[in-house]
This record gives sequence, structure tokens and C-alpha cells, in this order.
Amino acid sequence: MTTNQQIPKTHRALVLTSTDQPPEVKTIPTPQPGPGSAVVRIEAANILTYSKYIYNGARKYPFPTPLVIGSSALGRIVATGPDAVLLEAGKFVFVDCFVRARDDTASAFLLGIHEGHTEKSKKLMQGEWRDATYAEYAKLPLESCYPLNEELLVGKLGYKMEDLQEIPRNDEIDISEADLTRLMVPYGGLADINLKLGETVVIAPATGDFGRAAVKVALAMGARVIAMGRNSELLAKLAASDERIEWVQITGDVQEDTKSLQAFGTVDAYFDISPREASKSTHFKSCILALKHSGRACFMGGLLDDLAIPLRSVVQKDLKLCGKWMYSRQNVKDLIGLVEFGALKLGGQKVDKFSLDDWEKGFDTAAGYSGIDEAAIFVP
Ligand SMILES: NC(=O)c1ccc[n+]([C@@H]2O[C@H](COP(=O)([O-])OP(=O)(O)OC[C@H]3O[C@@H](n4cnc5c(N)ncnc54)[C@H](OP(=O)(O)O)[C@@H]3O)[C@@H](O)[C@H]2O)c1
Repeated sequence: MTTNQQIPKTHRALVLTSTDQPPEVKTIPTPQPGPGSAVVRIEAANILTYSKYIYNGARKYPFPTPLVIGSSALGRIVATGPDAVLLEAGKFVFVDCFVRARDDTASAFLLGIHEGHTEKSKKLMQGEWRDATYAEYAKLPLESCYPLNEELLVGKLGYKMEDLQEIPRNDEIDISEADLTRLMVPYGGLADINLKLGETVVIAPATGDFGRAAVKVALAMGARVIAMGRNSELLAKLAASDERIEWVQITGDVQEDTKSLQAFGTVDAYFDISPREASKSTHFKSCILALKHSGRACFMGGLLDDLAIPLRSVVQKDLKLCGKWMYSRQNVKDLIGLVEFGALKLGGQKVDKFSLDDWEKGFDTAAGYSGIDEAAIFVP
């Protein structure tokens, strides 16, 4: 095992004291590793398209303050606690922002973003794992650090990662952390409904950030996709990118749209990632009605309102409907496997990089991006 590297006593981090005040870059004590943890030198930290609205309070996300804010990241381990057996200094890792309690994996929160939905998840975010990745260094649970296979990614897949440490700093390198993070969310749902090779899945809406990520992931899983949404121009563009993508526009006529979906043949599965604004949309019903007997549906959208379900069809056709928040640890490993195997291609994005001092520009830039074609990251 490689020995731990020297960690500086202090480091710079983006600290939010309250959503009423802008975050500030502060010099604070650098976290030290203890049992069960690793300290990671952060190389690239994802900026969400809506990070700005999380930290100015507009999204009303609950989290404790003061807080070193952040999200998923790429980095290199500098030190681990004494019980680490796989991870060691020098390893290049994906840092997952979805932190689960060790003694209750159902209790989870989003590092630097959201304290989760239960008293237990809130407790988990209060202490040991509170501070996130918009910082030079971050301390993380060992199990939140997923090693990336540099040899495969560089050697076999030609991601031009001669020096992985330089990934986010080198414009020629076309793998980006933003990709991985966004793809894991729909993979969690699609894996949960056991999407299989050769099946047909409706993705709705397919034109948003996570919808488009879902299309990409479903194709990598070997499925055919029917992309559904309101914007016919975007849908047609999406379909033109791969011959396994068909598209259907939401017209507001449930029966008509059901027929349009079924016109492409058997619909095995339906993946929904609707935003709260879509709660009155007719597509929920048409997608459920279009499913084959024993079809499966997964709902990952952020609806606040209740939804009317065509229960007769659900019962008579033995449909399986499920919900999903984020993804499991196994999903993360499997998705990294799809990337390393070459089935899921990363890159092709324009990625803008910002220093912590340029946080405002970073948040503003990300807010104007789709997160798919273009993304913004911090390189602390
Ligand atoms: N479960 C989880 O773990 C998880 C994780 C991440 C995100 N989410 C949730 O996923 C949702 C989508 O996030 P996102 O970042 O992909 O959003 P986004 O980029 O803003 O995309 C929104 C999508 O919804 C469509 N849409 C908007 N209003 C609509 C309406 N009234 N009727 C039908 N379609 C409408 C948009 O299509 P147009 O092109 O027609 O505008 C677009 O395709 C959010 O609610 C988010 O909270 C859930």
C-alpha cells in the first residue's frame, strides 16, 4: 500500500453561512483521515445547473449551516484511515455525493446539497460527513470514493488521459465528471425496473437534463428508446442522433398519444423524470396506458402534487410501478463498469472550468447550460 501523503494544515473552501448571504471562500482547517474515511484532493467538482438556486435559497433545499458546499467530484486520494484496504494515496476516484448511513442505508443525504428526508438523514449530515467538495480537500466515507480504472480508460478507450490528475485541467480530455453524475441518476431507475437488452422504453420528458441522460443510458443498456416531450424540434434532433431513438410529442390527447407510442410496437418500460411544473401533463396517463402486459414504470421526477393513475389498466395488465430517489452503490459500480467496458461513451461536452474564487461566474454559467451539451465545474 502507498503511504498517506502529507496534508496541509489549512485549505481553501467555499463556505455558506446562510442562504441570505453569498458563499465565501475561506481558509479553514484541512480535514484529517480517520477510520472509515479518505481525504481526497478535489480535482473537479460538478456545478449543477440549479446550484445557484440551491445556495441563494430559491429552491428551499434544507441543509445545516455553516457548510462547505459542493456536489459529486473527481479527485485523487491523498490519505486514508487505517482500515482502508482497497483505496490508497494516489488512487483516482469518483466521489459520489449520495452519502448513506452505514448502519441504515435507507438514510441518505446529498453531500453539500440536501439533508435528505428523514430525521436520521438530517443527523447524518450534521456531523462527520457534513462538508462537501467545493474545496481543495474533502473528507469522505471510504465507500463514497469509487476507484476509476485509469489503465482501461486511458489505454483502451483512448480518453487521452495521459495524466488523470490533469483531466479537468486539460481541454483535450473529453471525459467529464458532469457526465458521470448526471448519468447515474437515470441508471438507478432504469436498473430498478430491470431494463433489458432489446427492450423498448419510453423516456418522458426526454428533452431535459436528466431525460436526455436517461436516453443515453437506456441506449447503453441496449434498449430502444421512445423519447417523449413537448418540444418536437428537440425531440427530432435527439432522434436523429441514434437510429434506436423514436419520438412522440405530447399533444394533450391521452388516447392519441397512447396510440402514437404503441405504433412503435411493444412498450416494455416507461421511465419518468418530470419536473414539478409537469404535474398536469397528460403524458403520465398515456405512457402507463401504452405499457404492455407486465410492463414496468419508474418515477423519478420531482412532482409535488399527487398524480391520477389509470388504476384499471395497472391492475388488469399486472403493471409494476415504482419510485426511485437517486441510485444504489451497486448502480454506481455498474455504471462505471459500462463506461470502462466502452458501452457508455462519455465526453463530447463543452466543459467550463472555474476557480473557487469565481464561484458566482461558475453558478451563473451553469444556470445557462443544459448540463448535457455544456457543463460547468470547479477546479479548486
Ligand atoms: N429522483 C431523483 O433522484 C432525481 C434526481 C435528479 C433530479 N430529479 C428531478 O427530476 C426532475 C427533472 O430535472 P431536470 O434537471 O431534468 O429538469 P430540466 O432540465 O428543467 O427538464 C425539465 C423537462 O421537463 C419538461 N417539462 C417542463 N414543463 C413541462 C410540462 N408542463 N409538461 C411536460 N413537460 C414539461 C421539459 O420539456 P420542455 O422542453 O418541453 O420544456 C424538460 O424536458 C426535477 O423535478 C428534479 O427534481 C430527481
